[in-house]
Amino acid sequence: MGKVISIINNQLGSGKTFISTNLVVQMSRSLLKVLVIDMDPQNELSQNFGARETDDNMYLALTDKEHIETVKIHPAVELIPACLDLIGCEIELVTYPNREYILAEFINKYRDDYDYIIIDNSSGTGLLVVNALIASDLVIVPVVAEINDIERNKKLVHAINKVDELLVSKKLNVRFLINNKSADSTIGSLKNSLKNLCNPKFMKTELPHLNKSNVVSTPESPWNPYELENINSFKSLVTEIQTI
Ligand SMILES: Nc1ncnc2c1ncn2[C@@H]1O[C@H](COP(=O)(O)OP(=O)(O)OP(=O)(O)O)[C@@H](O)[C@H]1O
Ligand SMILES: [Mg+2]
Repeated sequence: MGKVISIINNQLGSGKTFISTNLVVQMSRSLLKVLVIDMDPQNELSQNFGARETDDNMYLALTDKEHIETVKIHPAVELIPACLDLIGCEIELVTYPNREYILAEFINKYRDDYDYIIIDNSSGTGLLVVNALIASDLVIVPVVAEINDIERNKKLVHAINKVDELLVSKKLNVRFLINNKSADSTIGSLKNSLKNLCNPKFMKTELPHLNKSNVVSTPESPWNPYELENINSFKSLVTEIQTI
């Protein structure tokens, strides 16, 4: 049964889409079968894989359809794109029964077909993110040094734990992932402060600033991960995830 991983942080630009994208690239290299779910109306993850907007998108998945045709972007990777309609989706879903569990129920239909299901989220903390949390086995929270905001990260973990306590009670596995995207030397002290304040778990793997020529960070079509250099930090991230 496939494991569901959400990349979540309400901080804009903390690397959610970057990490989701390159994690998927590395997983495909490791011959893992992956379903990518784009929950961010900005649609950037889908664009990174050269996918255009289609009628079968996450808005329809959440509001309407029983079954969605996935977009094949690689022999081992399929995608359900986002779309602008996701912007109003949270308001629309308020009238739905069991509205927090819609994504979990949808994903359960796909779980057996994939090794991993990766969900990229928007920078909100609303109903769509709550849906992603409930659907997930592992929640990765990227932490960047340039936003040295310990209190904010602490509050985010607190909010995630509240969702767990109130709605799922499954002890969500939440891990910070150090993303030193600006090669900032203060990252070590940020990590220590976070450890002292709220005692979260950290992924052992840490991401350094990565050279844009070696990672997927702009729309590419057609997508060919084998043209990119092997990124060791994403390789170790996949290995670590496989042991969790
Ligand atoms: N480790 C890294 N090395 C180099 N560049 C990085 C790294 N992490 C993120 N970036 C870059 O930082 C920028 C912001 O990252 P990204 O778009 O993934 O953030 P996000 O959290 O998804 O933002 P949003 O909240 O808008 O969805 C992108 O240009 C991305 O390529
Ligand atoms: Mg993003």
